[in-house]
Amino acid sequence: MTAVSSGKLLGEPVDRIDGHLKVTGGAPYPSDFSYPDMAHAALVQSTVAAGTIRSLDTAGALVAPGVLTVITHENAPALAEGPMTNIGPSPRFPLADNRILHHGQHVAVVVAETPEQARDAARLVRVEYDEAAPVLGVGNPDAPVLTDPYGMESSRGDVEAALAASDVQYDETFHMAPETNNPLGLFATVARWEDGRVTVHDSSQWPAMARQSIATVFGLPESAVRVLVPYLGGGFGAGLRTWPHAILAVLAARMLERPVKLVLTRPQMFTSVGHRPESVQRLRIGATTDGRLLAVDHEATATRGAEEMNIEPITMGTPDAYAWPSAATHDRLAALNIPNPGAMRAPGHAEGGFALESALDEISYRIGMDPLELRLRNHAEVHPSTGLPWSSNALRDCYRVGAERFGWSARPAEPRSLRDGAWLVGQGMAGVTFSRWAAVCRAQVSVGRDGAALVRCAGTDIGTGTYTITAQLAAELLGLDVEQVRVELGDSDLPLAPQSGGSGLALALSGAVEDAARNLLRAFLDTVRDDDSSPLRGRSLDEVAVTGGRIHLANDPSAGEDYAAILDRHGLRELVADGEKDPSPPEGLSMAPAGAFAAQFAEVRVHEELGIVRVSRLASAVDAGRVLNEKTARSQVIGAMVLGIGMALLEETSFDAGGRIANATLGDYLIPAHADVPDLDVAFVGGPDAFNAVGVKGLGEVGVVGVPAAIANAVHHATGRRIRSLPITLDKLL
Ligand code: MOS
Repeated sequence: MTAVSSGKLLGEPVDRIDGHLKVTGGAPYPSDFSYPDMAHAALVQSTVAAGTIRSLDTAGALVAPGVLTVITHENAPALAEGPMTNIGPSPRFPLADNRILHHGQHVAVVVAETPEQARDAARLVRVEYDEAAPVLGVGNPDAPVLTDPYGMESSRGDVEAALAASDVQYDETFHMAPETNNPLGLFATVARWEDGRVTVHDSSQWPAMARQSIATVFGLPESAVRVLVPYLGGGFGAGLRTWPHAILAVLAARMLERPVKLVLTRPQMFTSVGHRPESVQRLRIGATTDGRLLAVDHEATATRGAEEMNIEPITMGTPDAYAWPSAATHDRLAALNIPNPGAMRAPGHAEGGFALESALDEISYRIGMDPLELRLRNHAEVHPSTGLPWSSNALRDCYRVGAERFGWSARPAEPRSLRDGAWLVGQGMAGVTFSRWAAVCRAQVSVGRDGAALVRCAGTDIGTGTYTITAQLAAELLGLDVEQVRVELGDSDLPLAPQSGGSGLALALSGAVEDAARNLLRAFLDTVRDDDSSPLRGRSLDEVAVTGGRIHLANDPSAGEDYAAILDRHGLRELVADGEKDPSPPEGLSMAPAGAFAAQFAEVRVHEELGIVRVSRLASAVDAGRVLNEKTARSQVIGAMVLGIGMALLEETSFDAGGRIANATLGDYLIPAHADVPDLDVAFVGGPDAFNAVGVKGLGEVGVVGVPAAIANAVHHATGRRIRSLPITLDKLL
């Protein structure tokens, strides 16, 4: 059989196979599903951030036109707690009692014949509260703090001794504002019960988890729940939990014995589906004057909801980012009266990378060394925590290629040395060592009499190209054209898949598809094992290759036959094979599984009198292992770089003193517009990763990380001002 890892870095830039459907409106998103007799739900949310509900009057709503029911904590049935998932416990069910833990907590759901009637009646629900003073702000001394909440704190070497003995003792604190994911597609749930089973269309990045959550909460076997997400209007991490509104939609449908649709409003998206928590980090680094990093101590505090959990692994990447002999990390979570945060766009890494790569830039200035040179001197040739070789690591190539394309060598070292009229110009860079996330994945591949293949997997395409890369990979493995491969995704009844998140689905799914394709070819060879009329009779997998829809002898392309001929002769409609890949290494391989690496280079222009910051150039060189599709991969990276610009300069979820989100619309919450985004340069470097048969490492998030630090470092180079707090708004530069 053909080598799975083709040795090629870049896969063909095939257009998205779902693209036409999406731009012509033919791709059904969760909110597009409708059923006859479907009712519509609208949420009523708390207008205080802490306290209890004193009284709740639904009489006016209940007599409003079209209203079918109003569900509150007074009439909601008790539900079981949701499951623990690998990104933390399920969200708290908000109608369990009369307590209010954050502004925007769901306190009632109104169900009516039309969405307008439901929304109208939701305004008629009268709620009175006994209000308590909310606990807000990451540094609030009244906030209960969990220490080492994820059990991920780490320590290697004697950090304190190494810091004390260092010539350069760096010790600074960084702050990041909370941010909100804001996928374009409003999150929606459509639930329909039939004979004790429920079908749910939900804005989930993880159909298998949604199925498990709904089954657990409603006391059903998983086989009685089907979650469908063939298309999703973006996720950014917001779809990695089964949120209370989804549970409420399923509950309403069960209580009414009718299908129910619930679509969040944009303001509700700010309170109901997570956000990046506010965070504070203290970073201590010891270095020699000739640029050797001796020790790092990284402490981070992020926020969480009052009685909830969220995993924000801010310090996770630090110990292995550079070859420091000693490293320690400390994680804290402060509980506030805020909506529970959740995964958002490289959760943890994005924040940690901002602090770490800003710190390296600062140290480079303290010792008078080029920032890129400092990174090269401390490059981790082997995986620092284990001493094992990396499964792949082209970070040096990222630096080299990125620097060449950006023109780094022409940069004057001195801050404030570039100017264009009133604009101060600066250039900065950052390195990125991203963690690998991997999980078990299954897939099924079949080939029928028409010679075409079908790939099926429960994982979902959140708009990143999963359909396309799956078709491309299956086509390559089976010797077919991409057009001959159909892909079914986003259905929890299909073979189990992990989340479309953590930059992990392409890695997991490619392994499963590779295994399934291999098993399928084996099944074809088994079929002709004793077949005298087949030139493939008695042949094994390692003796054959596949091209042009034919299996043939590897050393004699004329000796073979096509799939259809085999099926035909043996009276088979199709052959089907299952595949599975767990994240363990290939046999006998002693290596540290690497995630993606990147180098980010930024040029900014800062108006000397007004403090306006414009990003004028951004270049990213990425090692993501083998890239299955150059076009979708580049789109992922440039999308991520835009998110990085947002994080650096614009995005901030503003809580007012009462715990209300003051900018919960896309008019008020700032994200980069076209005028904020320069031409973005992306280069892929490296080669196929050794840990995964296909060579993929995953690249959903790596393009975000490092961009805020590269921009902040460029701002420093332009102005001489070091800003350790995001976003870098103009007030911080005046
Ligand atoms: Mo991402 S925050 O893992 O969807």
